Amino acid sequence: MTAKDKLESRRRFLAHVGRDAAVLLVPVALPGLLRGQSCAPPGNTTSPSAWGTDCRPLLPRRPASTLTSSEVAKLKAAYQAMRALDTTDPADPRGFTQQAHIHCFICSQSPTLQVHGTQNFLPWHRAYLYFHERILGKLIGDLNFRLPYWDWENPSHRTLPGPYTNPNNNTNPLFNGTRSMSPTDTLPAFDVDLGPALSSGTFSLFSSTLENGPHGSVHVDVGGNMGAFSTAAQDPVFYAHHSNVDKAWADWVKADPSHTNPATATWLNKSYGFFDENKVWRSITNTRLADHEGNLRYYYGTRAFEYISLLCIRRWRDLVLTLNPAASAFTHSAATLTALRGAAEKGAVHMVITDPQLPRDISAIYSVYISEREAAEDRGADSPGYIGQLSYVQGSKEHQHELPAGAIALDVSRRVKTLIERTGENVLCAVQRTPKPAQKRVLKVPFKSVSYRVGDVG
Ligand code: C2O
Repeated sequence: MTAKDKLESRRRFLAHVGRDAAVLLVPVALPGLLRGQSCAPPGNTTSPSAWGTDCRPLLPRRPASTLTSSEVAKLKAAYQAMRALDTTDPADPRGFTQQAHIHCFICSQSPTLQVHGTQNFLPWHRAYLYFHERILGKLIGDLNFRLPYWDWENPSHRTLPGPYTNPNNNTNPLFNGTRSMSPTDTLPAFDVDLGPALSSGTFSLFSSTLENGPHGSVHVDVGGNMGAFSTAAQDPVFYAHHSNVDKAWADWVKADPSHTNPATATWLNKSYGFFDENKVWRSITNTRLADHEGNLRYYYGTRAFEYISLLCIRRWRDLVLTLNPAASAFTHSAATLTALRGAAEKGAVHMVITDPQLPRDISAIYSVYISEREAAEDRGADSPGYIGQLSYVQGSKEHQHELPAGAIALDVSRRVKTLIERTGENVLCAVQRTPKPAQKRVLKVPFKSVSYRVGDVG
């Protein structure tokens, strides 16, 4: 999408939600600039030294809810030490608040460094966690320390991981008092379905489906600080959440030989700056980050590869593309309907929506329908017009940033029979589900294209 296209689709979106584009566009830059001071990295960040070879042993990151009591004690001691730096030396880039500022600065304040909505979303967060992990290790004198991950796709791990809520108060360095998710709340299954992301054939579709699907939903569901990028990393569970997002990237690469990372020089040579565990300003490239086992010395223990059997029985292929550049509506062509009819028997069908334009004024999860009437009824999965959900996380609560939407795949396998009956016009609509709106609003969602892909068995 060119810059002009982006502007155009933003204009359409703004017109759609009935706002004056000028009102929104102008204030964005100023607060961003002013607030930029507060999150900017401390010290001199002009001439980074390239990150060298990591000589640590290759060790597993493990599920946060299955850590042994001594592993939990280490994890807590590490965050305790990191938080202590906030008071003993607030300018130390290794302190907890400074660490959280990194995310605030890159992901909500610096339009030029922004990684969300781009192909650098995964590698940048991988680098961020890597240096964060090394700092935690250094602070407890154990560089073999590895971050845990919150494997929320596991049906028995859908509450906040125990160490982060036990005890559920400020004596626990992993606690955060702003969460809207309580220790007994569980994430809804459809918020954390990795299937459509993991079966995406291209890196960019995988990345944006993961980002605007389960990644965003978990941010919104945990809520509080986690609900906006400017504050998200002030909650220690952020790092366990992103460790699982990082694991999904590792799993996607392993799931199929055709799953390859971008190979352009721009992507490979893209580099990021971070303070390491010795407060030295470093740079690291996507090329190095892509190999987490060889270069970053960690892998994901237990439940790795579990998806592969699920993915391997299918050969995914793309079906007919429906292009509607200027509207929220699309019609199935006769050819699409025929192809969908053929797919109905075989099982797996994903709908791929490019650039869905959701409201930017709130972090939310939306139920998505393909007719206004069914959206107004909002019967969720029971409705024949329901096709899944999308999430959007704001840069910050104070001001809005334009994050590119990208494409997202939704699993509509169980809806093919009703989809093929839809010969008329379908209108893409979103109903805000989380956080609960006072008044239900049905939004027509402009998009760039809708297509289908089919997974054949055998
Ligand atoms: Cu940079 Cu989950 O956010």
